Amino acid sequence: MPPRTAGLLAWPHLLAAALAACECGYVSSINGTADTALFTDMLETDFTQNPPLGVHTDWAPQAFNLTRDRARGPYGELFAVANVGVSGGKGGEEEEEEEEEGLELVVGGRGAVVDGMVPVAEVDSTRLDVWWGTFRASMRMTRVPGTCAAFFWYFNDTQEIDMEFLSREFSAANGSYPVNLVLQSREAAVAGYNAARTGTFVKAHLPFDPTDGFHEYRMDYVPGRVFFYADGQRLAEMDGPAVPTTAGHLILQHWSNGNEFWSGGPPAEDAVLAVRYVKAYFNSSAPERQRDWAARCRDPAAAGAVCSIPDVTLANASAAGWFFKNQGNTTNNQTASGQNDGARLQRLWWPAVVGLLLLASGWVVAL
Ligand SMILES: *[C@@H]1O[C@H](CO)[C@@H](O)[C@H](O)[C@H]1NC(C)=O
Ligand SMILES: *[C@@H]1O[C@H](CO)[C@@H](O)[C@H](O)[C@H]1NC(C)=O
Ligand SMILES: *[C@@H]1O[C@H](CO)[C@@H](O)[C@H](O)[C@H]1NC(C)=O
Ligand SMILES: *[C@@H]1O[C@H](CO)[C@@H](O)[C@H](O)[C@H]1NC(C)=O
Ligand SMILES: *[C@@H]1O[C@H](CO)[C@@H](O)[C@H](O)[C@H]1NC(C)=O
Ligand SMILES: *[C@@H]1O[C@H](CO)[C@@H](O)[C@H](O)[C@H]1NC(C)=O
Ligand SMILES: *[C@@H]1O[C@H](CO)[C@@H](O)[C@H](O)[C@H]1NC(C)=O
Ligand SMILES: *[C@@H]1O[C@H](CO)[C@@H](O)[C@H](O)[C@H]1NC(C)=O
Repeated sequence: MPPRTAGLLAWPHLLAAALAACECGYVSSINGTADTALFTDMLETDFTQNPPLGVHTDWAPQAFNLTRDRARGPYGELFAVANVGVSGGKGGEEEEEEEEEGLELVVGGRGAVVDGMVPVAEVDSTRLDVWWGTFRASMRMTRVPGTCAAFFWYFNDTQEIDMEFLSREFSAANGSYPVNLVLQSREAAVAGYNAARTGTFVKAHLPFDPTDGFHEYRMDYVPGRVFFYADGQRLAEMDGPAVPTTAGHLILQHWSNGNEFWSGGPPAEDAVLAVRYVKAYFNSSAPERQRDWAARCRDPAAAGAVCSIPDVTLANASAAGWFFKNQGNTTNNQTASGQNDGARLQRLWWPAVVGLLLLASGWVVAL
């Protein structure tokens, strides 16, 4: 076999096509422009596209009940697939707004409480191999006080990275819009899962009204450090022993248990968390994905072998509409919803996620 470069020189017309495929991964800024990191895998879901969630292979709506005790509040929580919808579905206060976009996670109003449980919503990524990465979700918060909207990365109750928005804390009157940033550590477990009593809890203030439109919330998880952002603006940085070390999965959740110190509620009426997209670029813990990368990435220095991930910023929101999967030949051997590659990967991991998939298909039927 001749050396690879000789082959390319012999067929120069093949050069661009063969090399512009991001085969060595995706590079993200970390901590503003202070640093960068390379990630090998991606999961991009645009919930505003057809076909919507459920036909996708990326996310699984959850169905389980938490008693009052397990929910740690005066109410239990009923996680129902029916409370996960797509554009134009059920909606309380936001129904009059011009366009419903994307995924909707509904918390039922007081009148909807069933057997002492508030109807609430959760979807989980079906991939469980999400290790170091940059995780980005475009969301619009509810204006109805009494819910907790959460975007988080999760392995177990002591390996967890969390952005939690309490709608009762939003105050249009004094322009105060906090977000609670949490690492649930072993220390937090000892403190009764109250990370507020540990060093890995920050209440940051958003520079905009999160109920007023979609904004990108982002967590970067790299060895020994976690960074949180809103529209590209750094909110906090955490390090130390509470930073997780394992691979996990991503979760979108909207809930209420009536606990006056946290979610408050239940809300007076149905409350909707809307999600336009999740874009996650990460390293996989799955040996077959690591092997795939090693086989795919022949020369990281070759033109187009490594691709830059554009950042959404306060000054330039246009990257919010940007997906690799719309750029042509930049998602070879990746999962991006609507693409066959994703379906192939899903089948590989069928045994690990079979329960979640059954729930997902139940949801499709429920539609
Ligand atoms: C896409 O990239 C791959 C390399 O990963 C290459 O083999 C293929 O020819 C490219 N396809 C097109 C249509 O450019
Ligand atoms: C992140 O950026 C901030 C502000 O630019 C800087 O103070 C901090 O040291 C950086 N953190 C790391 C881990 O580089
Ligand atoms: C992700 O994996 C690639 C390939 O092994 C490696 O080059 C890169 O440094 C890893 N990224 C992080 C943040 O560890
Ligand atoms: C949750 O509780 C409701 C009401 O009691 C019940 O109808 C439903 O079957 C339960 N769901 C699960 C997953 O146990
Ligand atoms: C979570 O996982 C870590 C790493 O495997 C382990 O050390 C820890 O004990 C686990 N925590 C819980 C609550 O299971
Ligand atoms: C204004 O913000 C403070 C926190 O900074 C809060 O304690 C107070 O309740 C808010 N005021 C109103 C009217 O909500
Ligand atoms: C805004 O972001 C888009 C998408 O990443 C990029 O193409 C464009 O150059 C950016 N504009 C400015 C002014 O930075
Ligand atoms: C990635 O490529 C390898 C080798 O061709 C293949 O076995 C694997 O199924 C591919 N995975 C995806 C998600 O396309």
